[in-house]
Amino acid sequence: MAVFLLASIFLWACDRGPGENREVEALIKKRCTICHTTERIYKARQGRAWWEQTIDRMIRHGAELTSDERKEIIDFLSQRK
Ligand code: HEC
Repeated sequence: MAVFLLASIFLWACDRGPGENREVEALIKKRCTICHTTERIYKARQGRAWWEQTIDRMIRHGAELTSDERKEIIDFLSQRK
């Protein structure tokens, strides 16, 4: 029983992180590939301030993001190392 519980907790923990990332990745694919590919996005490894400026520039270019989506994308991209 203890082994089973431990295994479930382990599997649950493994499942969560990547699952949330996949959601943001899908969002990026949907909103950010109208003008360029995701390659341009994923090759940039920058801090939060840079991403905030860049995403706001994308919005000025015409990217359509709600403020929640903007935040999710900035969180995800600036924490990726
Ligand atoms: C309406 C068109 C458009 C959409 C939608 C768009 N972009 Fe861009 N993106 C551009 C243009 C034009 C450039 C090149 C000029 C620039 O850097 O401002 C660019 C450049 C970039 C760069 C390179 C910037 C640099 O300085 O190296 C990144 C990173 C980027 N976009 C991320 C994103 C992300 C993330 C999204 C989704 C939230 C997105 N873009 C959506 C038009 C767009």
